[in-house]
Amino acid sequence: MKALITSGGRGTRLRPLTHTQNKHLIPIANKPILHYAIEYCVEAGIKEIGIVYSADSTAVPEAIGDGAHWGVHITYIPQEAPLGLAHVVKISQDFIRDEPFVFYLGDNMVVGGLKRFIDAFEQSNTNCHLTLAKVKDPERFGVPEIKDGKIVRIEEKPERPKSHFAVSGIYIYDKSIFEAVNNIRPSARGELEISDAHQYLLDHGYTISYSEITGWWKDTGKPYDLLEANRLILDNMEENIHGEVDSASLVTGKVKIEPGAKIINSTVRGPVIIGRNTVIENSYIGPFTSIANDCRIKNSEVEFSIILEECSILDVDIRIEHSLLGSDVEIIKAKGRPATHRFLIGDQSRIELL
Ligand code: DAU
Repeated sequence: MKALITSGGRGTRLRPLTHTQNKHLIPIANKPILHYAIEYCVEAGIKEIGIVYSADSTAVPEAIGDGAHWGVHITYIPQEAPLGLAHVVKISQDFIRDEPFVFYLGDNMVVGGLKRFIDAFEQSNTNCHLTLAKVKDPERFGVPEIKDGKIVRIEEKPERPKSHFAVSGIYIYDKSIFEAVNNIRPSARGELEISDAHQYLLDHGYTISYSEITGWWKDTGKPYDLLEANRLILDNMEENIHGEVDSASLVTGKVKIEPGAKIINSTVRGPVIIGRNTVIENSYIGPFTSIANDCRIKNSEVEFSIILEECSILDVDIRIEHSLLGSDVEIIKAKGRPATHRFLIGDQSRIELL
């Protein structure tokens, strides 16, 4: 079985981080989101992966490479514009050919992997297998209407959802999906919607089965989703300390400290990951925090946050929490008079002050 993974789209809900970076390359627990998608496919025994990327940037092919690192072969399929998920499937027909395949939205994360869904698809003998997750806000997703245990209708981002389920970003199809994506028309927002392709299958006598995701699943579409995914991945991480921790420091809980990192006179309370060559001095790093490589944190406190590489947080008197810092960001104590807050902030940034 092959897999098709998405890495295009606009990433508008994750601005400003996505002004300079593809959202699928943003790290969760110091590893790009897209690595998780590839690793789930590898775990499921898939050897041939197609990655659809936005044709205006080669960032994803450059960052991910040919797949040899994971023992798989990756084919890159450019998408001229983000014309919808059914469009992604449509342009990938030559790569997939007639075989069944997993379609995986590269911004989704799921604990427990894909194998169980592939097995369920094979046992069900259906044309399409969907994965459903119970959510509080179904109007953000594709939503199924279920009667007597069967999906009878699927709507994309409905104002009045017919169930509490979201169709998650893991789909398994046979070749009938190509008939669907080649026959539907763009929606009001101009996209070929995957939910319309599913509705086409239902309307034309094809069969859809489903599994409910009982563990956790995350669509990392919004900033808080990234923090939540980071929390869940860190919670399941294995601890290991390669960096240096001096005798005046206290490191407790699940903590990963990468080579070259230094913890000096500080408290680190896991789950926490600290990247290569990062220095933490006279500081507190609290649970569910990922700090990337080459950062400096001195005389400061950080908790439940994601800090990307080369950031400096120096002499900050208030605890930084619930925060996402892009690369090379500085938060430092203002010196001199007048005693004021001073900002130099890029477009679409957000600051919350006490
Ligand atoms: O996460 C599950 C949801 O994903 C489903 O419930 C919805 O039915 C489905 O339409 C989709 O909704 P989103 O609004 O979350 O899709 P988004 O635009 O965020 O795109 C999902 C992934 O596909 C992401 O990796 C970006 C990529 N993408 C998206 C489009 C529209 C592309 O590569 N090309 C595209 O044209």
